Amino acid sequence: MGRTSRFSMTSDTHSTDPLTERSLTDPRGFLEDDVRNEFPLLAANPDLIYLDSAATSQKPEAVLTAIDGYYRQDNANVHRSLYDLAERSTMAFEDSRRVVESYLNAASHREIIFTRGTTEALNLLAWSLSELLVNQGDIILVSTLEHHANFVPWQQVAIRKGAELLLIPALKDGTLDLDFLGTLEKDGRAEKVKIAAVAHISNAFGTIHPVRAISRWCRERGIPLVLDAAQSLPHLPIDVQAAGADFLAFSGHKVYGPMGSGVLWGREEWLERMPPWQTGGEMISMVKPEKTTWNELPYKFEAGTPDVAAAVGLAAALKWMKDTGVERLEAREHELDLYAYEKLSSLEGLTLYGPSDPFRRRAVFSFNLEGIHSHDVAQYMDTVGVAIRSGHHCAQPAMRLMGIPSTARASLALYNTHEDIDKLIDAVKGVQEYFR
Ligand SMILES: Cc1ncc(COP(=O)(O)O)c(C=O)c1O
Repeated sequence: MGRTSRFSMTSDTHSTDPLTERSLTDPRGFLEDDVRNEFPLLAANPDLIYLDSAATSQKPEAVLTAIDGYYRQDNANVHRSLYDLAERSTMAFEDSRRVVESYLNAASHREIIFTRGTTEALNLLAWSLSELLVNQGDIILVSTLEHHANFVPWQQVAIRKGAELLLIPALKDGTLDLDFLGTLEKDGRAEKVKIAAVAHISNAFGTIHPVRAISRWCRERGIPLVLDAAQSLPHLPIDVQAAGADFLAFSGHKVYGPMGSGVLWGREEWLERMPPWQTGGEMISMVKPEKTTWNELPYKFEAGTPDVAAAVGLAAALKWMKDTGVERLEAREHELDLYAYEKLSSLEGLTLYGPSDPFRRRAVFSFNLEGIHSHDVAQYMDTVGVAIRSGHHCAQPAMRLMGIPSTARASLALYNTHEDIDKLIDAVKGVQEYFR
């Protein structure tokens, strides 16, 4: 695949992201289309146009090799045995934790908890943080645009505790209405908010939410902020110490790592005070019939045998992203985003959801075609080799806001090319023609 970039390293036009004011250039230069060849599945299927990376990303060779190598050379249970093989396995697991710590710029490895993914991380938090903070009559604040993983666990906790789940409303352009925070201030409800949990990027519409403004509001009131970074970590460099959040959750399988891997990062001062979620082996310090004491962080939150290979694969993915250059991949994706936005938003009969400012969105293009069900759109596209998703994207409140049951969703990753987007556009025209 040849170089087809329309991005100029010397042009000022898109060299700085106005939202973050970070440079989108990298001294190593632009990441070329042939990065796709590092993904065996894509290399083996040159005609596949994979536009469903918001659901899960494809995996580079480096990740497959790391997982394979772990099982071939280092497999044993961790933290339990003294023989050499088990020591190696423990080291592989703990080294992986250090990779995550460094990638996120966490203050300590004690703040990195391995989970099966974002959903498990958020369930852990919803249970444990609420045990610490939420009582009857309190408020848990989320938004209308959350993935169900950052909605249902908080809703269930609110029901159990007799608390209220309050939603930051969203506007029709798929952005959050932050004036609502001012309303909470005026009517006194702000004082009852004990936890706020929002996504960094919406999986339904691709909106980048103004987490800095939300974080400032939370900080001023001592409210812990939980950031669902499932859709942002694959696309943006994140420094947890600078992000202004207290917790952050992400899934390994969306950042080029394996299924069943994920991380909950939390500030140590919170994690120390929180009770464990799951109990059993490894998370204890001392067990007596009448009482159990907990292990130190992060093990207090890692009950049972962990998925060591998943952690090893996740670390390999983050290393691969770092080695490839997070700023380079961001610049590449940003340019593809702008190209896709321009093309899709100019098509007749297509409603594109989400902000009209392409700098306020990333990687996700949710749309409907006039008079055609989104499942029909996705099914037609499959016949021409374009893999997109259709449905409510586990975000039914967000769909309800738009007055629709579902959308077709094309989502990008760094291995996509301008040709992929051109094929998507051709496929949209093909669907429209077919159902005319
Ligand atoms: C914003 C967001 N949060 C949470 C999740 C849940 O992630 P997982 O299914 O990997 O736990 C997803 C998955 O699509 C997501 O997009």
